[in-house]
Amino acid sequence: MFIKLNNSYMIMTVEKHTKKMYNQFGKEYQRTRKEKHNSRLYNEFLEVPCMIKAIGNIKGKKLLDVGCGAGVHIKKYISKGAKCWGVDISRTMINMAKEKCPNVDFKIGSMTKLPYENSSFDIVTASLSIDYIKDLIPVFKEISRVLKKGGLFYYSNESPVASARERYEDKNFKIVGIGKFFDKKTGKQIALGKGWDERLVDWEMVPGMLMKTYNKTFRTQLKNLRESGFELIDFIDCKPTPTFKKYDPTAYELFSKVPLFSIYVSQKK
Ligand SMILES: C[S@@+](CC[C@H](N)C(=O)[O-])C[C@H]1O[C@@H](n2cnc3c(N)ncnc32)[C@H](O)[C@@H]1O
Repeated sequence: MFIKLNNSYMIMTVEKHTKKMYNQFGKEYQRTRKEKHNSRLYNEFLEVPCMIKAIGNIKGKKLLDVGCGAGVHIKKYISKGAKCWGVDISRTMINMAKEKCPNVDFKIGSMTKLPYENSSFDIVTASLSIDYIKDLIPVFKEISRVLKKGGLFYYSNESPVASARERYEDKNFKIVGIGKFFDKKTGKQIALGKGWDERLVDWEMVPGMLMKTYNKTFRTQLKNLRESGFELIDFIDCKPTPTFKKYDPTAYELFSKVPLFSIYVSQKK
């Protein structure tokens, strides 16, 4: 299924796969986002509040959320006074978004070919959705096309720091980390870290929901933004909220120290 004939075949395949997974498991994925000790907590209590804070005053702005999922962010953007649109590749996710925000015009579509006119929006957001894209430039150019000149583009994804963590297990250690680990009893030393390369990652979001996402280096992202006509104006490492601490104090402590998600804020030149 994932034979790499050429780049475009690969993109289509991952995109189709993503769509299939969200269509099939989207409801389960969304339901588990607020369960204790679940990695989806990272959406609700880490990425969402960080993005909402980063975006600041959006009263009266025309805002498009790309890969909008079940409309969690859009509901909050509306409460901040923005006029919102949402697009997502999955029908299941869009159906949930329509239930959450009945007055919003949601569309099923891909961020590789956005179903909007040129220069339509003041702001485009993409929360944890560009991780599914291999080649960022065509997507960034599409986003630039639908933004007005001077418009702002906010996207979040997994921090390259978090992506570089490596798993290790033996009878003494069980580690997910970066750095040198030293066993005082045996004197054994372990150097952990995956390096900073681009890679396609296979992982299970909820049981049976097998995802394929792309880790990108800082350099690739900054270069691709520039090559698509954007200027980076801010970069934010997301910190967990106090609410997160109530759900999972260990993860709270970890992600207060190590960035899991980052937000890139750019302006269309
Ligand atoms: C991790 S979910 C995040 C959903 C939402 N942004 C949030 O943070 O609550 C990723 C979303 O991106 C959507 N997505 C993935 N690839 C896409 C593409 N090529 N075009 C549009 N949406 C896409 C998925 O269907 C899914 O709803």
